[in-house]
Amino acid sequence: MKPILATLSGQVLPTPPIWLMRQAGRYLPEYRALRADKGGFLDLVYDPVAACEVTLQPIRRFRMDGAILFSDILVVPDVLGRNVRFTEGEGPKLDPIRRPEDIAGMKPVKTDRYDRVAETVSLLAAALPKEGFTHTTLLGFAGAPFTIACYMLEGGGSKDFAAARLFAILYPDAFQALLDTIVETTVDYLDRQIQAGAEVIQLFDSWAGVLHAEGFASWVIAPTQKLVAQLKTRHPHIPVIGFARKAGPHYADYARQSGVDAISIDEQIAPSAMAELQKICPVQGNLDPHFLLAGGEKMLDSAAKIKTACQDKPFIFNLGHGVIKGTDPAHVGQLVDLIRQP
Ligand code: CP3
Repeated sequence: MKPILATLSGQVLPTPPIWLMRQAGRYLPEYRALRADKGGFLDLVYDPVAACEVTLQPIRRFRMDGAILFSDILVVPDVLGRNVRFTEGEGPKLDPIRRPEDIAGMKPVKTDRYDRVAETVSLLAAALPKEGFTHTTLLGFAGAPFTIACYMLEGGGSKDFAAARLFAILYPDAFQALLDTIVETTVDYLDRQIQAGAEVIQLFDSWAGVLHAEGFASWVIAPTQKLVAQLKTRHPHIPVIGFARKAGPHYADYARQSGVDAISIDEQIAPSAMAELQKICPVQGNLDPHFLLAGGEKMLDSAAKIKTACQDKPFIFNLGHGVIKGTDPAHVGQLVDLIRQP
């Protein structure tokens, strides 16, 4: 069995499998070259041959145990007609939802985008074994409902998503309707990815950590639970990893109640606390990406502590968040070597 699939089924391996969030991207010169060639980021995302190539770049360099589909969580708002665009140096922009009335009647309009991503997944499912990466698990993904709602309400990135949170408090029914719409279209989207060959799904709830306790229960755990339950009726055997970033005190409830099979953990959680969470389910994480940026002994020491604390229960090594843009690819190579040392 492939190491990531074995770990998610509860096995403990001699050394933990490893992949990194944002392992494909701007820190790799071969990514920057292809990106410059294709023009915009979304042009790359919706070009199946190019997106397949970008996904494979870190696999060829580091023989990662996981290949994560090269795409973006904002494909779902794009399909829902929110005019997603990426401008150089500014991050994503979308047409913001300003009024509760904007939500009723919202439905998938640009579903050809799903066809393109599904095509990328099919190309990957064929390319991985063909290139000899028979140990590498193909991961599909989507944004979790709360994080997607945040971007749709805010109209882009934000340090605290204040407008989105205010909307949720003022208009709870409209906010719930938005979450339901996102759940529904995301289930269809992930269904397409799985039919095309995705073996595991990761849900990115990057902004879960901004919420108060009750909000976390209603807007992170509850919609995730709905989404996972619906997906499992169609694909009961596909494992789901939930990444509720900066969920801090809520990680245990999230692991127990959301229906995910495993949790990905950010860098704020100590290795000993990660090991506690492993009593509930397999965990993935959680090296601070700044250690990867720094490299050297400090990176290796920090990674070794995590590995030592977690390797006697089901564990996938990863970062606490994505690889930072200026990271030296050689540091990634050194990290992978360390994790694979018996
Ligand atoms: O390697 C991988 O992890 C797979 C590809 C992937 C990307 N985005 C590519 C990307 C994945 C899984 C994502 C998820 C994603 N996208 C998240 C969740 C994870 C997280 O980072 O919290 C979020 C919040 C987004 C939305 C998004 N996409 C933002 C805020 C930005 C701009 C910030 C940035 O890093 O530039 C993006 C752009 C983006 N997505 C890039 C990549 C490689 C950079 C685009 C470029 O300039 O080439």
